[in-house]
Amino acid sequence: MAPGNSFSGQFGRDEPELRSAHVIVVGNEKGGTGKSTVSIHLTVALLKAGYRVASIDLDTRQKTLTRFLENRHSFADGAQWPVEMPFHHALERGASASIQDNETHEFAAFAEAISQVEHAYEFVVIDTPASDSYLMRLAHSLADTLVSPVNESYIDVDVFSRVHHDRSQRGAIAHYADLVLEARRRRRLVDGGIIDWVLLRNRLASLKSNNAKQIERSISRLASELQFRPAEGLHDRVIFRELFPIGLTALDPIEEGLKNQTLSTSQKSARREIAELVTSLQLPLRGSDVPHLQARHLWFERVSNYYRDIASHDDD
Ligand SMILES: Nc1ncnc2c1ncn2[C@@H]1O[C@H](COP(=O)(O)OP(=O)(O)OP(=O)(O)O)[C@@H](O)[C@H]1O
Ligand SMILES: [Mg+2]
Repeated sequence: MAPGNSFSGQFGRDEPELRSAHVIVVGNEKGGTGKSTVSIHLTVALLKAGYRVASIDLDTRQKTLTRFLENRHSFADGAQWPVEMPFHHALERGASASIQDNETHEFAAFAEAISQVEHAYEFVVIDTPASDSYLMRLAHSLADTLVSPVNESYIDVDVFSRVHHDRSQRGAIAHYADLVLEARRRRRLVDGGIIDWVLLRNRLASLKSNNAKQIERSISRLASELQFRPAEGLHDRVIFRELFPIGLTALDPIEEGLKNQTLSTSQKSARREIAELVTSLQLPLRGSDVPHLQARHLWFERVSNYYRDIASHDDD
C-alpha cells in the first residue's frame, strides 16, 4: 500500500458480507479481451434490474467506460425514455514525475471513490486497464467478484498458465494468474474476504472450431488449479460495439428507433446473452423476501463453500 494510507474503516476489518457494495472488478492483464465491453453491459444490466449501481474507471488513459457514460448522458438529454445512469467516478492520472507521488495520489483518489460508494450502492463495477500497476493490483484485492474476459485464443490463455508445445514447459502459473492469487492472499489477510473469480469467454464464434473446443477444455482443466469458475460469455456481435457512440446497449429499448420496431434475431440473442452473463456471475441478487445485505451474506456462504470444496477436492 502507498505509505501512510490504509483502507481500514473503508473495506478495512468489517466482515466482508456487512458492507453494502458488492464489488465487481473486470480485469485481465491481456489487452483488448473485452473488459470495458463487459463493464458497460454489466453496469447497464444491473441498473435495468433496479439496483443502485456505481462505476469506477481505473483506465486513466483510455477511459472507455467513462466515454461510454458521457455518450449515454448526452443521449439521455433528448431521449424519449428514462436512460438509467450509474454514479460514476473516473480516476485521473497522477501527473508527477515521481512514481511514488503518483501512487500516493492515485491511492487517495481511489480510496475516496470507494468511500463514496461502499455503503450507498448495491453494486460497484470497476473497469481496469490491461497494464500491471499498483492501482490495478489494489483494485483486484478489493473484488468480491472478479470477471476476466478471455478470447478463444491460446495467446489469451497464456497469461493464466503457460501454453507450450513441450509438456515439460507447459502449465506454470503465468503472470496474471499470479497477480490474482496474490490479490486473494492479500484480501484474506485484510478482512477475511473471498474473491469469486470468473473466467468469461468473450467474442465467441457462432460455429465452434476445433481450436475453440481445445481452448474450452484447457480452461476447464485450469479451473481447479487456479480456483476460478469458467463461464460462457458474449458472442462476437456487432450490436455489442455499434451502440457505443450513442451510449446505448442492446438492453436499451433500441426497437423504438428501428423502422419496423422489431429486433433482429441477433439483437434478441444479444439481450439473452447479457442476461445469461449476469446469471453466470451468480451475484447476490435480492428477491422480494431477500434484502440486499442478506443476499450478500448468502453469496458469501455459497462462494466460500464452493472454493472450500474445490480446494479439498484438489487435496484428494
Ligand atoms: N462480444 C463482443 N462482440 C463484438 N465486439 C466486441 C465484443 N467484446 C469486445 N468487442 C470489441 O473488441 C474490442 C476490445 O474490447 P474492449 O475495449 O472492451 O476490451 P478491453 O479489454 O477493455 O481493452 P483494453 O485492454 O484496451 O482496455 C473493441 O473494439 C470492442 O468493441
Ligand atoms: Mg478497456
